[in-house]
Amino acid sequence: MGVLGMGLGRSRGPRWERALVTGASTGIGRAMAVQLAAAGVDLVLVARSGDRLEELASELRASGGQLEVEVLEADLCDPEGLAAVEKRVVAEEAPIDLLVNNAGLGYEGLFHAQDLAEVSETIDVNVVALVRLTHAALRLMTARDRGQVILVSSIASLQGMPMTAVYSATKAFITSFGEGLYEEHKCTGVTVTTVLPGLTHTEFHQRGHWDLDRWPSIGWQDADAVASVALAAAAKSRPEVISSWQNRVLAVLSSKAPRHWRRATIGWFSRRK
Ligand SMILES: NC(=O)c1ccc[n+]([C@@H]2O[C@H](COP(=O)([O-])OP(=O)(O)OC[C@H]3O[C@@H](n4cnc5c(N)ncnc54)[C@H](OP(=O)(O)O)[C@@H]3O)[C@@H](O)[C@H]2O)c1
Repeated sequence: MGVLGMGLGRSRGPRWERALVTGASTGIGRAMAVQLAAAGVDLVLVARSGDRLEELASELRASGGQLEVEVLEADLCDPEGLAAVEKRVVAEEAPIDLLVNNAGLGYEGLFHAQDLAEVSETIDVNVVALVRLTHAALRLMTARDRGQVILVSSIASLQGMPMTAVYSATKAFITSFGEGLYEEHKCTGVTVTTVLPGLTHTEFHQRGHWDLDRWPSIGWQDADAVASVALAAAAKSRPEVISSWQNRVLAVLSSKAPRHWRRATIGWFSRRK
């Protein structure tokens, strides 16, 4: 279902005027950008692949209306790249009223065997950049008493995961961070919504060298479906959303199980190949 069909539009929910989406070159971020554009929201697209962003921007501009689409090519691991995005987030001219912290990555493998550069990259993008951009956005939004931040976490945040220990820990940080921020801003014009997708068909697993034979082949979503759920939840100012009913069932079952049982189950699952 398209995002307009789920109640996001100019007439209902927050009237976002301009959104900055990180990781907009592909996957879930690209899908959110397309759906926001369809709802008439101007965009700032951020990622490293400038060519992909330019292509998307041309497509969105050509799709009609008076849409303004800016392209900001930046590497969120690079201090200069991150500073450029922070600068855009706090700009008073053409201010953003929605920040979508979506860029993220995760490598699969035993932690001690992982390349430390990949570990740092994961923490830099998933945690450091997300925190800094959220800080910048909330300063601006709090001063205007208006705005929203979306944090893209994962159901992997609900349990320490062998073979993706760094990734799941970064996502646990995001889910906890989002929960705290939601309460800090409750009853104000500012909202923070945390999104927990499950397995989604994107470039994510290939980039992170995941062995998909170890993972279930059912219950996957496509990026459009995740984007719709995320934007609809944000439009309703929800604190948190899990992207599908299958993942919600998994989350409820997991929350009811004793911690040692969950740990043993996920350990068995990761060793079973
Ligand atoms: N796919 C899943 O199964 C799944 C499940 C749960 C949660 N998630 C989360 O969903 C979010 C989006 O992931 P996806 O599945 O859409 O993955 P994806 O297809 O690999 O897209 C990742 C996006 O992040 C950008 N990115 C990565 N590193 C970056 C950097 N250093 N600087 C700037 N941008 C960077 C990439 O753009 P460039 O390469 O052009 O820079 C790309 O646009 C992530 O936070 C991920 O953890 C995904």
